Amino acid sequence: MGILVDILLYLVMILQMLYVFLGNIPHEILGISFFVLLVSHIIIKRKYIKAILKRNPNRSRLATVSNWITVLILVNALVLAVSSMGVSRTLFPWFGFMQDPLLHKYLATSLLALSVIHGGMKFYKRSAKKKKTAFIIALLTILALVLGLAAVPYINRHFRTVEISYSDKVSGEKSQTAEKLLTVYFTRIGNTDFEDDVDAVSGASLLKADGILMGNTELMAHMLRDILGCEIVPITLKGEKYPSSYTDTVVVAGKELKNDARPEIEDIDISGYDSIILAYPIWWGTIPMPVATFLENNDFNGKKLYLLATQGSTGFGSSTEDITDLADGAEVIEGLSIYCDDIPDVRNRLREWIDGEIKK
Ligand SMILES: Cc1cc2nc3c(=O)[nH]c(=O)nc-3n(C[C@H](O)[C@H](O)[C@H](O)COP(=O)(O)O)c2cc1C
Repeated sequence: MGILVDILLYLVMILQMLYVFLGNIPHEILGISFFVLLVSHIIIKRKYIKAILKRNPNRSRLATVSNWITVLILVNALVLAVSSMGVSRTLFPWFGFMQDPLLHKYLATSLLALSVIHGGMKFYKRSAKKKKTAFIIALLTILALVLGLAAVPYINRHFRTVEISYSDKVSGEKSQTAEKLLTVYFTRIGNTDFEDDVDAVSGASLLKADGILMGNTELMAHMLRDILGCEIVPITLKGEKYPSSYTDTVVVAGKELKNDARPEIEDIDISGYDSIILAYPIWWGTIPMPVATFLENNDFNGKKLYLLATQGSTGFGSSTEDITDLADGAEVIEGLSIYCDDIPDVRNRLREWIDGEIKK
């Protein structure tokens, strides 16, 4: 029974890492199964857990390390349980603590890595070839960290097409502000050379609203327009667009950043507005270079510049500092940085942010 629960625990952890392919609801249900399995595991191993909590001067160094790992796993799992409810969109949408998806990612990854060490140490104790076993455990731990911190977020950005209903996600409660606001946004869609059959594009990482292709940041701009009744203007390239393949776009964008390029864009007139909400995706840890062109082309003196970023794990990266350097005279106000998966459901957060930050 114990071994079955152990195997299932590892299996569910791996499946949870592949949430990109499973979707949100299976991820949340599996999350609950994981914690049920973990409680079963704790009940089955209760004698062992009691023993590790007791003082024992004769304990070997290896046993002490192993016990600490177990304690860390228990604490990590407890915090992860709270964070899982915090980021839940379907089963616990009312839960208001620890709603940070990045923290959730770090907690899930550290639990996987600690569990690899925990399981590995059982083999190590019995193993005749200790060096080889230790090497394999170290390798698997690194693999778990790379999987959780880099590979899963990358796969998520690279392969997913999300389909949503436009009106369900965009329309809702309104807000008003005293400031005359313009939303300017940059998004990949509209600035990319997609082939006619977008479904055939490999690695597209796309969002479809009522079957129509939209950028994450574009969807967010549409929400802002619905909430505020403000105008929204896309930053549009004049010249060559980005390639349809995600990977190729990453390469081109990397080169542009390295060369501090300023791709030419269509003019945007911000002169009649008190404040600008600038919404942009994080590219290579900062703004895409066409956003730099927009910032340098305009006079922000006396204007507030509210920042909204969308990203796959980087938060604001260095974008706030970079924008402050480029937008001469602007009062730069960091707003929200939203994880790409959360964008379809971000409308309420945007409205709360507007009510708290801009309305006053
Ligand atoms: C060229 C490129 C580079 C990216 N670099 C990062 C990055 O450094 N950090 C990150 O968290 N997300 C990165 N992303 C992911 C995007 O920020 C994220 O998917 C965003 O929501 C895309 O918005 P859009 O659909 O409006 O273009 C990158 C995406 C692209 C296309």
